[in-house]
Amino acid sequence: MFLVLELHQKNIANHYAMVETICNINTKHSVIFIATGCHMNSEETLAVFERLAEDSQKSLKVDRNKITVGDAPNGKYFRTYNQREACDATELNHRQMIKTIDDLSIDSTDGRKFCIDINDVEKIREHLFVDERLVRTTFNKAIIVAISNLKGGTGKTTVTTTFSTGLCTETQKRYRVLVIDLDPQGTASMYLKPNISDDDFTVGDLLIGNYALDEGETFEELAKATCYPTNTPDLHVMPIRPSDRNYEVVSKKKQNNEEEKGREFIVYEDLKKIIDAVSDDFDVIMLDTPPNFGALTISAHYVANSLIVPVLPSQNDRDSTSKYFDFLTEAYKVIQLLGHKGYDSVNVLPTAVDIHSNAQTSIASKVRIASSNNCFSVDFLESEAIKNCAEKQNTIFDQSASEYDATRSSLKSIQNSTRTLIFALEAQIQQIWREELK
Ligand SMILES: Nc1ncnc2c1ncn2[C@@H]1O[C@H](COP(=O)(O)OP(=O)(O)OP(=O)(O)O)[C@@H](O)[C@H]1O
Ligand SMILES: [Mg+2]
Repeated sequence: MFLVLELHQKNIANHYAMVETICNINTKHSVIFIATGCHMNSEETLAVFERLAEDSQKSLKVDRNKITVGDAPNGKYFRTYNQREACDATELNHRQMIKTIDDLSIDSTDGRKFCIDINDVEKIREHLFVDERLVRTTFNKAIIVAISNLKGGTGKTTVTTTFSTGLCTETQKRYRVLVIDLDPQGTASMYLKPNISDDDFTVGDLLIGNYALDEGETFEELAKATCYPTNTPDLHVMPIRPSDRNYEVVSKKKQNNEEEKGREFIVYEDLKKIIDAVSDDFDVIMLDTPPNFGALTISAHYVANSLIVPVLPSQNDRDSTSKYFDFLTEAYKVIQLLGHKGYDSVNVLPTAVDIHSNAQTSIASKVRIASSNNCFSVDFLESEAIKNCAEKQNTIFDQSASEYDATRSSLKSIQNSTRTLIFALEAQIQQIWREELK
């Protein structure tokens, strides 16, 4: 809980101690001072910033501790299903379900209720759809999707985490999916590996070369070990931490060094080395990118073979996305010169569209018309359930309606509409793989 105090006095540090004593503030509360009506000198300003940083860190840590007490390797809980939900997820009817869990010796009792978790659902899918996994042949490449828009807050991370989780939970093919978080803000990492520790390797460590290989260990093995399991079977994450932002500086220095020596600098090589090391283990790799165009974003655009551009349905966002496309055109000319073979798909995706707002649906439809063949058949709708789940760093596919503690119909409704989008993405993936075999 935050306690916001508006102070007119100048000495923030002394007043913090005083107010803490008076209010008997303990560690459960964070205090944010808003100093108004007075000028602060630079030291006082710094003290305010330090206090804000410390308090928000404390508050985040409390939240993180709450969401990392679960049974999954990333500290979250495995999704559970009641009988109806388990039947829907596996396309079985009730009688077939009872027989299948019996055949597979799955314990489905939670007190008097039927309850199985996502690992059991995975077992049932494996048993029922035994040939379905063989969708990607050795002739097919992994689908590498960059989710990108230079404008901040357009839903890149939400799309990355929701689509990657949904591809694993909502389809029967049991795709092996990896999310590589390339945004040093680390939001996708917090969704998929909230229990990241200082000892864990990150994508930044691999990019910067911040590692020492054990004797006999190869880079490929280290890169594979940096793909951590999540609370969703078949979904892994290569996380990032804020200090990995340093890669931008390291990469710039490398560029200067190479240019001084009269050699060509290839910015995407570090990320490509990682992708090459892990891509055999995954069918789909999703890259969440930051809202700026540095070495990480340009590398993501280079290593990707598909692109999703989330766009918010507002006039300002339309304008900035249009500028982003101008920029992308210029940037792609450089990527093309570096040898990029072209994207298999580019999808502009109107995101967080409120279907009750005429203005938003009208802008979304203009975006759709302007994008003609380059968009999915449906939009990613706005939903209170997405925000609710986000508070606990969950996507809408991390939990079933039966375990959701707010309005269940709102979760079900956004799950249903987003499932259509997941199936549209799946159809594109299948199409790309089919074309490759021709
Ligand atoms: N479909 C949606 N319905 C409701 N809220 C949404 C939806 N999509 C995204 N949001 C909310 O919008 C905010 C911004 O989303 P998100 O963090 O995914 O954007 P981003 O493009 O990754 O931002 P950044 O550029 O900072 O990385 C978040 O609070 C998220 O919960
Ligand atoms: Mg983001």
